[in-house]
Amino acid sequence: MKILGIETSCDETAIAVAVDKKHLLSNIIVSSLHLHKRYGGVVPEIACRHHTELINIILDKALKKAKVSLGDIDAVSVTRGPGLVGSLLVGISLAKALSYSLKIPIIAINHLHAHLYSPFMNEDEVKLPAVGLIVSGGHSSLVYIKDIEKIELLGQTRDDACGEAFDKVAKILDLGFPGGPVIEKTARKGNPEKIEFPRTYLKKGSLDFSFSGIKTAVLYYVDGLKKKKERVNIPDVCAGFQAACFDMLLKKTEDAIIRKRPKSIVIGGGVSANSLLRQRLKGLADSLGVDIFFPPKGMHTDNAGMVAALGAYLYQRGKATRENFSAEAGLNFN
Ligand code: KG4
Ligand code: ZN
Repeated sequence: MKILGIETSCDETAIAVAVDKKHLLSNIIVSSLHLHKRYGGVVPEIACRHHTELINIILDKALKKAKVSLGDIDAVSVTRGPGLVGSLLVGISLAKALSYSLKIPIIAINHLHAHLYSPFMNEDEVKLPAVGLIVSGGHSSLVYIKDIEKIELLGQTRDDACGEAFDKVAKILDLGFPGGPVIEKTARKGNPEKIEFPRTYLKKGSLDFSFSGIKTAVLYYVDGLKKKKERVNIPDVCAGFQAACFDMLLKKTEDAIIRKRPKSIVIGGGVSANSLLRQRLKGLADSLGVDIFFPPKGMHTDNAGMVAALGAYLYQRGKATRENFSAEAGLNFN
């Protein structure tokens, strides 16, 4: 079996070939991040143009690396949303053209589902039911996974996503874009207990998140010191900010585990690349006696490997269709 996976929801133009639900023959990613840095965030028109210019080259590379030709492909899976609509349409157009010309089925993939699926690509099997935590630049969601195809949304952010808060705080501190990796690195030199930023837990029993309060607290803290012409200790701000974000993520994840009593926890999305977060979640899982699974190396942030592998999983279960679909910028679970 050879499944082609296409991911163009944001700034990565990515194509992969999967041979089954866990294994890839190729996984090519080219990001347009360098073109967005000067604007402090992803510019949709630039991302879309970059996809248009590169998508055919990436397709050739993915096929060549996998040592297959288009005629060998059994089905094509593609991200249909959520994401930037113009960017999504570049991937979807290619997928539809391939499906039509090669007479092969097409599998429309929810990007959040693909992030959630990435920990299932580890060699060890994830025991279900599981609680899933997706922490990316656009989403912070807790879900209950009875079956890979049956996802129940337990809670999500009411405002900013966790990764978005990292990106905005990095901007406030003039650390560049994206914020996650640079804040993680800078925080290593800081004291997480020096500055106590607020934790927002919302009302009792809620599994929703809110990250806009902490972002604003960092802004007021930095502005306050600047007005007094005092020095901002950037490593301490980064460490304090990270500690507050991770306290919020851990508390809600713990509440979800206590409520749903799953056998495993699975984590996906760009923020799960953070080693402190992974370490803290592992400690939580151990203390609650549940198994924990993270994405395999290099699969935390956006990639097409997770789209191809989920496509292979669904294809094997007879879930490929030829039905018509379009980009859905605001796609979610349920
Ligand atoms: O999953 P992803 O690649 O794209 C979306 O679907 O949004 O996630 C990107 C997000 C960005 O906000 C980025 O700052 C964050 O993931 N991120 C991190 C780290 N690496 C990436 N956040 C915290 N620590 C990191 N090491
Ligand atoms: Zn993503």
